[in-house]
Amino acid sequence: MSNITVCARFRPSNTQEKQNNDSGCIRCIDTESFIFKDEKDEEFVFSFDRVFYEKSEQADVYQFLALPIVRDVVDALNGTVITYGQTGAGKTYSMEGLGILECDEQKKGLLPRVVEGIFDSLNFEDKIYSIKLSMVEIYMEKVRDLFDLSKDNIQIKESKSRGIILPGVTEITVLDPAETLQSLSRGIANRAVGETQMNVASSRSHCIYIFTIQQEFSSDKRMRSGKLILVDLAGSEKVEKTGAEGRVLEEAKTINKSLSALGNVINSLTCGLQGKASHIPYRDSKLTRILQDALGGNARTALLCCCSPSALNAPESLSTLRFGVRAKHIKASPRVNYSEEKCDNSFSVSSPSGDTSFGASSPSGDTSFSASSPSGDESSATILNKLREKLNAEDVKLLEEVFIQEGILFEPPSVEEESDIEELILRTISSLQAAVEELTVTVNEVRTIKMC
Ligand SMILES: Nc1ncnc2c1ncn2[C@@H]1O[C@H](COP(=O)(O)OP(=O)(O)O)[C@@H](O)[C@H]1O
Ligand SMILES: [Mg+2]
Repeated sequence: MSNITVCARFRPSNTQEKQNNDSGCIRCIDTESFIFKDEKDEEFVFSFDRVFYEKSEQADVYQFLALPIVRDVVDALNGTVITYGQTGAGKTYSMEGLGILECDEQKKGLLPRVVEGIFDSLNFEDKIYSIKLSMVEIYMEKVRDLFDLSKDNIQIKESKSRGIILPGVTEITVLDPAETLQSLSRGIANRAVGETQMNVASSRSHCIYIFTIQQEFSSDKRMRSGKLILVDLAGSEKVEKTGAEGRVLEEAKTINKSLSALGNVINSLTCGLQGKASHIPYRDSKLTRILQDALGGNARTALLCCCSPSALNAPESLSTLRFGVRAKHIKASPRVNYSEEKCDNSFSVSSPSGDTSFGASSPSGDTSFSASSPSGDESSATILNKLREKLNAEDVKLLEEVFIQEGILFEPPSVEEESDIEELILRTISSLQAAVEELTVTVNEVRTIKMC
């Protein structure tokens, strides 16, 4: 078990800060520590796994923060990289660079480097791979599919074998880095379309990129999969400072709520009584629910705390750095994820050495889009409806919660055949009925004992 990686990054001063002769709020000690001066000239020493100062290179950030995680994900461990900080602190610059299709090697952000890193790390000797990409945005507590804007309220579910899942989200199967970048750029463009329709600025939503890398061993057909989640969070600045009103104020409150939920989850994870399982409030926001695997242990996680170097922004930077210090206490112990689902071979990435299937497109003519199975969701709804016919609403609600937590419900079937779903529904209903009957007997027994 190891702690998550936490780094701080200070962007260069912008024109306004330079014009104001801003004295700055940091003094470098070394690559891991610095002295921070707040607005009252009080000094604090901060230490992180690495500090990236104003002149830091995008490549260094990638190599330290993301590359080890990329390698793990290709080995079927889950990984998460999060950028945190106030608006304008450099989160998107660190994540995307100046543009996702930007060719300037020096300014390329984490995302395009991660894409290259994934494809470079594949080992074709004994495996074939299937790489899928989804992109969602959380705006006003709704999860929006950035590859299909009609899906504007995606639900978050938990599966025992696959962890947190987004049933029905569009998953694009990608075959090479160039195609992946094109898809990402389409998702980012869709974000802009959504923004103008809703008059939203990107700093008001959390943007989440999800890569799923599934591998099948040629020797024994064993399946494993790793999920890499990159999160560009909404700005963490305080409402009072932005002078927000009306809808903008509502947005800011929602962001603050989800970022405080993130803070609360981190507090619960790091302040829990040793040896006692404490309640972690993942369900308090969509953001914390999506990040449950990343924060809860089954993922190697890295956090980049982005800050302005300006004395004017010292209060926000201090709050960002304190958030990073707390997050550093989170422990993680990712494990290899074995899966039962088969790679969809018509889309597999295999060795480029003359293998004709590399770069092959979908037989349906739709080269890249493949929606994930909504059937698990539908069958769950059917099960719950049938239960409602027999039990009262409160009992069904209770059972639903217990079965979701236990991963019994919402487990999508591996084969999406109608008959299989039907069978799964019948099996689940009869096992639920048996459980309810058993519970009723026990309750009656307890009542009898009490009366005696
Ligand atoms: N490390 C950096 N080097 C150069 N410019 C940067 C750096 N970080 C941020 N910037 C610039 O600062 C501005 C704000 O950064 P941005 O990433 O959009 O902030 P955020 O996403 O946190 O709101 C952008 O113009 C961006 O290009
Ligand atoms: Mg941004």
